[in-house]
Amino acid sequence: MRDGLKLFYHLKNEWVSIVVDCRSQQPSIAYFGEALGNVNASMLGQLDRHEAPASLSAEPVISLSPSVGTGYLGHPGIALRKAPNRWQFNPRLVSCEASESRLALVSICEALAVEITHYLRLDRNTSVTELTTHIKNLDSEARVSVDRCLMTAPIQDHLTEALELTGRWGYELQQNRFPLPASSVVRENRTGRTSHHLHPSIRLLSTTTSLHSGDAIDVQLAWSGNHTTRIEQLADGRRLVQAGELLEPDELELDPNTSYTSPSCFFCFSNEGVSGLTQQWHRFIRARHEPVNALPHRTRPVQLNTWEACYFEVNEATVIELIDQAADLGIERFVLDDGWFEGRNNDHTSLGDWQVDRSKFPAGLTPVATHCHSKGLEFGLWIEPEMVSRKSELYRAHPDWVLGFSGTSLIEARHQLVLDLGREEVVDYLFESISALLTETPIRYLKWDMNRDIHQMENAVGGRAVHHQTNAVYALMARIRKQFPHVEIESCASGGGRLDMGVLQHATRFWPSDTNDALDRVRVQTGFLSMLPPELMGSHVGPSPCHLTGRQHAMAFRAGVALWGHMGVEADIRALDESERAVLEAAINLHKQHRLLLHRGCYIEHESSAQQVSWSVVSADQTEALSALALMETPNTAFPKRMRFLGIDVAKQYRVNLVWPQELSAAQAQYRDSLQANTFGGDWLQHAGLEPPIMRPESILIYHLTAI
Ligand code: DGJ
Repeated sequence: MRDGLKLFYHLKNEWVSIVVDCRSQQPSIAYFGEALGNVNASMLGQLDRHEAPASLSAEPVISLSPSVGTGYLGHPGIALRKAPNRWQFNPRLVSCEASESRLALVSICEALAVEITHYLRLDRNTSVTELTTHIKNLDSEARVSVDRCLMTAPIQDHLTEALELTGRWGYELQQNRFPLPASSVVRENRTGRTSHHLHPSIRLLSTTTSLHSGDAIDVQLAWSGNHTTRIEQLADGRRLVQAGELLEPDELELDPNTSYTSPSCFFCFSNEGVSGLTQQWHRFIRARHEPVNALPHRTRPVQLNTWEACYFEVNEATVIELIDQAADLGIERFVLDDGWFEGRNNDHTSLGDWQVDRSKFPAGLTPVATHCHSKGLEFGLWIEPEMVSRKSELYRAHPDWVLGFSGTSLIEARHQLVLDLGREEVVDYLFESISALLTETPIRYLKWDMNRDIHQMENAVGGRAVHHQTNAVYALMARIRKQFPHVEIESCASGGGRLDMGVLQHATRFWPSDTNDALDRVRVQTGFLSMLPPELMGSHVGPSPCHLTGRQHAMAFRAGVALWGHMGVEADIRALDESERAVLEAAINLHKQHRLLLHRGCYIEHESSAQQVSWSVVSADQTEALSALALMETPNTAFPKRMRFLGIDVAKQYRVNLVWPQELSAAQAQYRDSLQANTFGGDWLQHAGLEPPIMRPESILIYHLTAI
C-alpha cells in the first residue's frame, strides 16, 4: 500500500535541490545539486535508460539502501539477517511524510518483519542535507542482525574526481585529489575511533572544479567509530557513493521491537568549488551544533597547555610559575595536561586512577584553580576516560573491565588498555570520577583524549564492542555536559584521531594534530578549515625546535600561524628569552584584537602552491578582513606571487595594514609604510591584488583590511 505517495519529492532552497524518486519499490536520490525550478514526472522519466544489451529489461535503481536480490549488483547499502535462511531484505515503500524541508520515507519488508525509514532533512540556510536511516525490528520474537547500513546515492556523471582528507599521526587532514577509477574506491576505518588516516568524508568534483569554481559535493559521516566511505562504478557505468558505520557481523543486533538509527550522513553541495563547500559547512556547523552555537556568547580564551612545556613533570610549584608567566603574557585559560593524577610520572601507568597525585599537588587541584582565578585565568584539565593502565589501582581491582580478544594476550598501545564501556559499572565509575573532579575544583574545560586504537574489541559478553563503545562515549560526554553545563569539552585523540561531526554534538574544540610545527600546521589547518570553522581549531604556539619534527622556527612564524584558530601556547614560557616573549605577547594581543573577526567571520582559502599558502577571514559585512601569506619554502622567484584578497566587497574602499610580523626588514617596513599611505578599491585588491615584499622562507605576513 502506498499511502498518498507521490511519484517524487523535491526539497529545495536557494542553494540546492534534492529530488527523491519514489516511482520504484524503494526511494532513490534522482538528483542532488544546483537549485532547480520546477521538476515534473516526465523530466524524471527522461532519466530512465533503455534496456542495455545483455541486461535486465529495467535498470535497477540505486536506492537509498540498495540490497541484494532486487536486481542491483553493486555493493549492498544494507544487509540484515534474522537466521541463515532469513536474510532476504526486500522492503517496499509504503508512505512518506513530507514537509517543505523534510521527508520521512517509510518502507516495510514483510518477509523479514523490518521497517526502514529514510529521513532527509534539508537545512534552510545552507545546501547541507542530513540523511539518516532508521531500522525497526517489527518482530515480536526474532532478533535482527544489522550487518551493514550505508547511505547510498548515485553520483552525477560529471563528478569524476574525488578529494579525501587523509594523513597520519602528527600530520593529519592532508588533501588528496584523485580521478575515480572504473572500479571501487573503498575507505574503511577499523581503528575504533575516527582515525588519523581516513576522515569519514569524501568530496566529489568534476575535472574542472577548482578551489573557487565548479560543482562539488561533500559527503560527511557524523561518527567517531569504525566507518566506511565507498565510491563504486557499476558495470552499467553508473557511479554511487556510500557512507556509514562499519559494522562487523553480529556487532549490532536488534531485539524484537527495538530499532537502530544510523549516524547522520551529511551531503553538501556547492557550485563555487571546494571553497564553496567550506562556506556552507562553516555556516551550517555554526548554526546547528548546539555547543558551537553557544560559543558566540563566550569569548574563546587564549590558553596555555602544559604538555610540551613539561610533559609529566607537573607539580604545584611549576604550574603556579607557569600560571604567573601566562597571566603576564595575557593568557586567559590554563590547561593542566597529562601527569597530574596519582602516580602518573610517565605513560606506563595510572590511567583510570583519576585522583590527584598528592606528591605533586599536596592540597589537590583547587589551589591551582584558585591561583588561576586570582590571575584572571580559567582552569582546564586533561583526562582520558576510556583508558586504563595495567599499572593502576583500577586495573588491579577490575582486570575484567577491559576489552580484549579471547585466546590472545592483551595488546597494549602506549602502554594502555581500553575500558569496556558496555559495562554499566564502568561508565558509572567514570561518570563519578569525572564528576568528583568537577565538583571539587572549579574546572571549566576538559581536554578529553583517546590515545590508542581499539585493536581488541571483544566485550564482556564476547561481542564486538565498537558500535556500543562509540555511543557510550557520546552518552558519557552528554551526561557530563548535562550535569556540568558550564564545562566545555575538547576532543583529542593523539591529536586529530577523533575529529568529526559526531563528537561535535558534545565538543567545542578539536585538537587537530600533535604537531606544533608551524610549517606542517599550515597544511593541517588548511585541511581542518576546509570543513570546520576556525573557532573550533585548537592551534598552539609550540617550542622551537619542534618536538616532533626537530624544525626550528622563529617565534614570529610560530605565533603568526597559531593565531588563526582558538589560540594557545604549548611551550615552556619560562624558558623564552626576552625578544621571544615580546613577540609572543604581541601575537596574543593581535589575536585578541581580532578574535571576534577570526571566530565569526568567513574563512576563505586562496589559491596556493607548494611554496606559498594564503587565506583570509572576512567579516560578515565585509568591512574588515585579516589575510595571511605564508611562505613555505624558498621561492624560485625573488618575490612571492601576488596576493589577491578574496571575499571582500569590490565596491568598498579599504585601508591595508601589514600587522604581522612586528619586526620587518628595511624593505618590508618601507612596503608597509607605502601601504598605509594609500587606500585601495576592493575590486583592485580582489582582482589585481598586491605584490608582497620579499620574504624569507618559513615566515608569514598578516594584513588587516578595514573599509573606509
Ligand atoms: C596526546 C595529545 O594529543 C597531547 O596533546 C597530550 O595531551 C598527550 N596525549 C598527553 O598524554
